[in-house]
Amino acid sequence: MHLRTTLASLLAASLVLACGTAAASSGNAADGAKKAAACEACHGKDGNGIAPNYPALAGQYPDYLQQALHAYQSGKRTNAIMNGMAAPLSDQDIKDLAAYFASLPSKISDLHGKIQGGD
Ligand code: HEC
Repeated sequence: MHLRTTLASLLAASLVLACGTAAASSGNAADGAKKAAACEACHGKDGNGIAPNYPALAGQYPDYLQQALHAYQSGKRTNAIMNGMAAPLSDQDIKDLAAYFASLPSKISDLHGKIQGGD
């Protein structure tokens, strides 16, 4: 009886942990779509960038996008435009934007012409 209770509470605790982890890393793509209006001038309406110097965000790993935005925000990654764009974003904005752009279809088939110094 005692063992069963312990097992049941362990199971309950791990379920809570698992759900907590999922919620912490996931954003809402529909909310992100609304917040992405400010990004489309450069990254494109389809998230693939309007020119090669604007990175494609479509289909990118959401945790990569989140990490990049946090790095611009903290100044760990410097870019005059993106430091300014990331500054006002909340953690939830970053999650939602990352979920949205990650959900868009990528047009990258290879990196031809997309690597600086490459050809
Ligand atoms: C005025 C143009 C412009 C706007 C608007 C803009 N960006 Fe950017 N973004 C850039 C440029 C240029 C880079 C590449 C900077 C660099 O080399 O670090 C970039 C890089 C990024 C990266 C890193 C991509 C990678 O592959 O590492 C992310 C993520 C990003 N932008 C998200 C956003 C989001 C989200 C918004 C809207 C809130 C936004 N950007 C608005 C120009 C823009």
